[in-house]
Amino acid sequence: MTQNVLVTGGAGYIGSHACKKLRAAGYVPVTFDNLSTGWEDAVKFGPFERGDLLDRARLDEVFSKYQPITVMHFAAFSQVGESMKDPGKYWRNNVIGSLQLIEAAADAGCLNFVFSSTCATYGDQDNIVLNEDSVQLPINSYGASKRTIEDILANFEQSHSLKSVIFRYFNVAGCDPEGEVGEFHQPETHLIPLMLDAITEKRDALTIFGTDYDTPDGTCIRDYVHVCDLVDAHVLGLKWLENDKGSRVFNLGTGKGFSVREVLEQSRVVTNKQVPHVEGPRRAGDCTKLVSGSERAVTELGWLPERSNMKTMIEDAWNWHQTGHYEK
Ligand code: UFG
Repeated sequence: MTQNVLVTGGAGYIGSHACKKLRAAGYVPVTFDNLSTGWEDAVKFGPFERGDLLDRARLDEVFSKYQPITVMHFAAFSQVGESMKDPGKYWRNNVIGSLQLIEAAADAGCLNFVFSSTCATYGDQDNIVLNEDSVQLPINSYGASKRTIEDILANFEQSHSLKSVIFRYFNVAGCDPEGEVGEFHQPETHLIPLMLDAITEKRDALTIFGTDYDTPDGTCIRDYVHVCDLVDAHVLGLKWLENDKGSRVFNLGTGKGFSVREVLEQSRVVTNKQVPHVEGPRRAGDCTKLVSGSERAVTELGWLPERSNMKTMIEDAWNWHQTGHYEK
């Protein structure tokens, strides 16, 4: 029998890639999305239910209609900078919304939960490689909201036996190489799409946020992971739960860090064009360096991140940038 997976945020960047992967793996991805940042055009691989996480009755209706075996919860606001200016938005949607969803899932007896958390929960920890047991000391509201949801999941395991696989993402990049879905945020805030926009003069020069960090070239360092590899891990996480292996946290990154200047240089190599840029002040909430220790996902889940090299990620993003977009 085909099994339904409830995918919140399935109309968004990562959620839509997850739906494609789930469909290919034989599941029916049911997208639940309020389209606040997602695109109905991106829902291509299963049914669409428009709804808001803060609307408990609507959630109950969808659980009852589809009887999903697992929830994959992508729906969240995810901009570090914005979270420092408008923390209420992050606590309301991310924390209260997730609580509503977790409670609805538990009450519906859907006890497998795959959750998109973030390396932003670790905070700024001087030049260490972060593994799943590293202390979590978020320095921005976004990271704090996600850490709180991790705590809520632990409580619901005690109360309702709800099992969770928590993925702490590092920086997700790239797009579906077949171009069926892609990365299209409005407004765009992420480094790689912004660089490609600057190259093609869709916007002004990119501003490098801070050149005085304690890193070799003074710019922040991040660990980039290809979205297709990331969603592969989600299907492995779903199977992990189906096989009753219990709740577990996994980092998803590659263990290799790139500075902002290094990403700019790789973009020049891939596109054969200079990225117009200027140097600006630091952005509030940015950590100096976030690099993953990701052995656990590889050894325990059997995860093989095959596309997560910077060249491939920028090539795939560049391909989508030239051909794909969504419309409201
Ligand atoms: N950056 C610039 N200029 C820009 C945009 C970004 O210099 O115009 C820099 C940032 O300061 C940072 C790096 O590029 O050093 C990456 O920035 P992004 O905005 O692309 O990504 P973030 O690291 O801020 O955040 C992303 C996701 C979060 C996730 C986080 C984990 O948006 O959801 O990765 O690091 F938590």
